[in-house]
Amino acid sequence: MTQPSQQEQRKKEHIAIAERFYRQPEFARDQFAGVRISHPSLPDTTLASVHLEQMLFNKTINYPIYINAMTGGTNQALVINQKLAQLAAHFQLPMAVGSMSILKKEPELATSFTTVRENHPEGLIFANIGADHPVDFAIELIKLLNADALQVHLNAAQEFAMPEGDQDYLWSKKLAHLQATVGQKTPLIAKEVGFGMSASTIAQLLALGIQNIDLSGISRTNFIEIENHRRKTALISDYSDFGLTVIESLLERLNVQQTLKQQPVITFASGGISTPWQAVKCLALGGDLVGMSAYFLHLALHHDLDEMMTLFAAWLTEFKGIFAMLGCRNVADLRQLSLILSPELINFVQQTDLD
Ligand code: FNR
Repeated sequence: MTQPSQQEQRKKEHIAIAERFYRQPEFARDQFAGVRISHPSLPDTTLASVHLEQMLFNKTINYPIYINAMTGGTNQALVINQKLAQLAAHFQLPMAVGSMSILKKEPELATSFTTVRENHPEGLIFANIGADHPVDFAIELIKLLNADALQVHLNAAQEFAMPEGDQDYLWSKKLAHLQATVGQKTPLIAKEVGFGMSASTIAQLLALGIQNIDLSGISRTNFIEIENHRRKTALISDYSDFGLTVIESLLERLNVQQTLKQQPVITFASGGISTPWQAVKCLALGGDLVGMSAYFLHLALHHDLDEMMTLFAAWLTEFKGIFAMLGCRNVADLRQLSLILSPELINFVQQTDLD
């Protein structure tokens, strides 16, 4: 048997460590409690009148929910991606694959990615790479998946902590070039990997012409911690307070929108989300879609496809039910509700105001 390459080994370890963290509640920061929604006692709606379908990148999706980037490149990834793609196809959800950079050195591992398109033939699929890859390679990957969009992950904090990480972060020119070339045909989504985005990052991305951002805030999937577990010599500092949560990142996005009066970007809210109520709060705060990775990984690792479908159907029923209970027929209605922010979040907004 051939030994797995360093990249394959890393992918296996990411799954194992991320799952271990997901099960440790002390890693969860209750960022969502800081946003409360003022509800109507006379909702005047019915569940049947809730409609959450929308168009995204020229395709219809049933819910503003997507399976976010995780894996590919190993046998285990093939099984996980296959199950997740079947789940995505059943509920008509968009799905992102994990980083496809591994295919540069090991193109024979492509089936662990292409299984997603095979099992979700009509659906929205996002390819995924780092910002430092050449245009030709990005185009090749998009073709391989017949991808509807390309997530470009921005993972400086992960590279910093990764034992074999690359610490040249000269990405903005490369990202601008990807946007000016690939981005003209296939939408680019600039994506964090679990550390959130500040207002200045969002403004910079807009200035580069990027119109889709995935905020991916702090979550139990903390890639500094994950890479730290893979190091022979652990990092000296504690980075558990590094980065912004998805809630803080959504507030930053609103800040940019109000200050720069830019055309609104499509905002993919992700990072630390696992329940319908958390998802609703992110949409109320301006997210256009809500993404989850660790939640879906946990489902795929512990359940067969039938059980996954049953569990996620219950998730969606509750999600839709919240809309009706709040008197909302769609995401636009949800945005009309008053939100009450905790003193900590008010303080955050005051300190980070771009004005
Ligand atoms: C990830 N994530 C990720 N992101 C990315 O852009 N490319 C990638 O290859 C990976 N790989 C990966 C592997 C595993 C096992 C996990 C759990 C996650 C990050 C992911 O897309 C997301 O940004 C963070 O996990 C935060 O969201 P959750 O997990 O809290 O929903």
